Amino acid sequence: MENNIKKAEEKIADKEKTHSSSVMSHCFVHESAYVDDDVQIGSGTKVWHFSHIQSGAIIGEKCSIGQNVNIGNNVKIGNGVKIQNNVSVYEGVELEDYVFCGPSMVFTNVLDPRSEFPQRGSKFYHRTLVKKSASIGANATIICGNTIGKYAMIGAGSVVTKDVPDFAMMVGVPAKQIGWVCECAQRLSFDDAGNATCKKCTKTYQLKGSEVIRL
Ligand SMILES: CC(C)(COP(=O)(O)OP(=O)(O)OC[C@H]1O[C@@H](n2cnc3c(N)ncnc32)[C@H](O)[C@@H]1OP(=O)(O)O)[C@@H](O)C(=O)NCCC(=O)NCCS
Ligand SMILES: [Zn+2]
Repeated sequence: MENNIKKAEEKIADKEKTHSSSVMSHCFVHESAYVDDDVQIGSGTKVWHFSHIQSGAIIGEKCSIGQNVNIGNNVKIGNGVKIQNNVSVYEGVELEDYVFCGPSMVFTNVLDPRSEFPQRGSKFYHRTLVKKSASIGANATIICGNTIGKYAMIGAGSVVTKDVPDFAMMVGVPAKQIGWVCECAQRLSFDDAGNATCKKCTKTYQLKGSEVIRL
């Protein structure tokens, strides 16, 4: 492993000599991955086999970009983000710190695609924002133009068609909210006064209308 990391660092250093890429030597890029010019990758981030990071992308520190992942042009990804195998993060998608993207989940960026009448370029893209520490299960699909709230939990295979509140647990097609989750991912139950304490980590929350706030 040590050896592999060293090789990738050398490879990046070689690339830097020939390209204007600002990839740092303190991250790991597997030799089968492609990193375009003008990409920023933070320290401690790992990019695994057959992945492609496109021009203008900014990836934070300590992220894991799995196998066969595509990071589109100008995509911004925070720190500590984990992207499992076979995910395309298209232009127009932004992932805040600690977002988790399960294997083969799907983002979108054009709402009404047609091959015959292509909509190419950022003016056609509907923005998707995934807020801090939200998790998206395997095979879920996120319809573009929606925001997933912080610490939300999207069940495997769900199709998100609307904005998702902070701390919400969503499942199904289309995704419906079936409850709330703690920062640690434990399910929360609120009492009649709208208070909840996490059974696992003891953090406390209040339900105000349709919003959950961490106390
Ligand atoms: C959403 C999730 C976190 C819920 O887990 P949980 O709190 O243990 O929920 P339960 O298993 O008690 O299910 C609660 C209800 O939601 C349903 N449900 C759970 N996950 C569902 C999903 N992904 N899609 C549709 N319905 C789902 C259950 O059938 C159950 O319905 P019921 O009350 O009618 O019986 C979990 O099911 C899930 O999808 N996790 C993501 C796993 C994943 O993709 N990991 C990626 C890394 S490997
Ligand atoms: Zn908790």
